[in-house]
Amino acid sequence: MFNFIVNGNKAYAKEDKILITFLREDLNLISVKNGCSEGACGTCMVLVDGDAKKACVLKTSKLVNKSILTVEGLTDREKDVYAFMQAGAVQCGFCTPGMVISAKGLIDKVENPTEDDIKNALKNNICRCTGYVKIIEAVKLAAKFLRENTEVPKCGCKGLVGENLNRIDAVDKVLGIAEYADDMRTDGLIYGGAVRTKYPRALVKSIDVSEAKKLQGVYVVITADELPGNQKVGHIIKDWDVLIPRGKITHCIGDAIVLIAAQTQEILEKAKSLVKIDFEELTPVTCPEDALKGDAPLIHASGNILATENLVFGNADKCIKNSKYVITNKYSTPFTEHAFLETETAVAEPDGNDGIIIYCADQGIYQTRKECAEALGIDQSKVRVISKIVGGGFGGKLALIPGIQQLHIKPYSQVRQPKEHLENLLIH
Ligand code: FES
Repeated sequence: MFNFIVNGNKAYAKEDKILITFLREDLNLISVKNGCSEGACGTCMVLVDGDAKKACVLKTSKLVNKSILTVEGLTDREKDVYAFMQAGAVQCGFCTPGMVISAKGLIDKVENPTEDDIKNALKNNICRCTGYVKIIEAVKLAAKFLRENTEVPKCGCKGLVGENLNRIDAVDKVLGIAEYADDMRTDGLIYGGAVRTKYPRALVKSIDVSEAKKLQGVYVVITADELPGNQKVGHIIKDWDVLIPRGKITHCIGDAIVLIAAQTQEILEKAKSLVKIDFEELTPVTCPEDALKGDAPLIHASGNILATENLVFGNADKCIKNSKYVITNKYSTPFTEHAFLETETAVAEPDGNDGIIIYCADQGIYQTRKECAEALGIDQSKVRVISKIVGGGFGGKLALIPGIQQLHIKPYSQVRQPKEHLENLLIH
């Protein structure tokens, strides 16, 4: 048993666990957002005896007799002062409670922080949407309101052109009570997850799920053979395997091969570890130039070219011929990771006798509905998709990663952000 104080109240953890799990799952303090689970993003920032710390890298056993503060534990005055809207510092909001905690950790110690103080205090908090200028401005404002003991001006917008208007969901996002898919709590929830390939290109020679099926607490284990609908889905061309079948080749790291539903996340992870997949690793195609070579392996049976577009603007040949100077160079754009901070999560529940409702962070609910219905082999009218608040997306949440692969169960899933992508985004 580990005793400590959380938001001014005595709390205890019966067993040693990661602090973020204890706060979110046992105490239901959902302002502590889980962005990466590995100490990279800062969305789970809490104050421990006044210092900002990431809850995803702390164990309850190390916190005995410590005092922990989350946004839920702020005073009403602090909730008002740290509202962040006045500076326009709230967009998707997934990073915001963590930013508020780091700001409070600073302002409690430094009444009138400099810009460098603020940058230093926020150096472990990543924001993907807002950028840092407005967030720094918001922290300065909060410090000023507290230092001068002044009221926070209320938004007096009358709806006229040119007036500042607060986002309607900003307060809830700042206070951590805006509900993202991962924040949903529902009775009887069970947990779903996928066993994915660790090789970008590999032949799936065999899949053995017998041990996973025997594990107590496992409800169902599904391979491509058990899928009731289309094996392939896709927005433009249907070339994305819902699950890679035995005897087929994976297309990229993360392709799903087996789905499992289990009573708890711990049982789910154990079951995933019991699945045995025999891969024959193949040479991957890692860049467009290689993919275009005549002897390149085919990523899809139809070939390695998705589409050919011929873009013509004016008469380039004529313009170049008549130009005084001509520069010849090769230009390319880098691969860009969306790196949204909110994990990809879906919660689904039965709708009547033969329908399903899927809640997820989604940038294209109608496409999700269409493709989920196709994968399930049911009519679209039987599928409802409800988008929860989207914690960043940038186009990356148009895909169906959590939704399509976990339809048969009431699921929960997470796809974590690669740490190396997140570290590049830290404030400097
Ligand atoms: Fe900061 Fe979206 S507002 S990550």
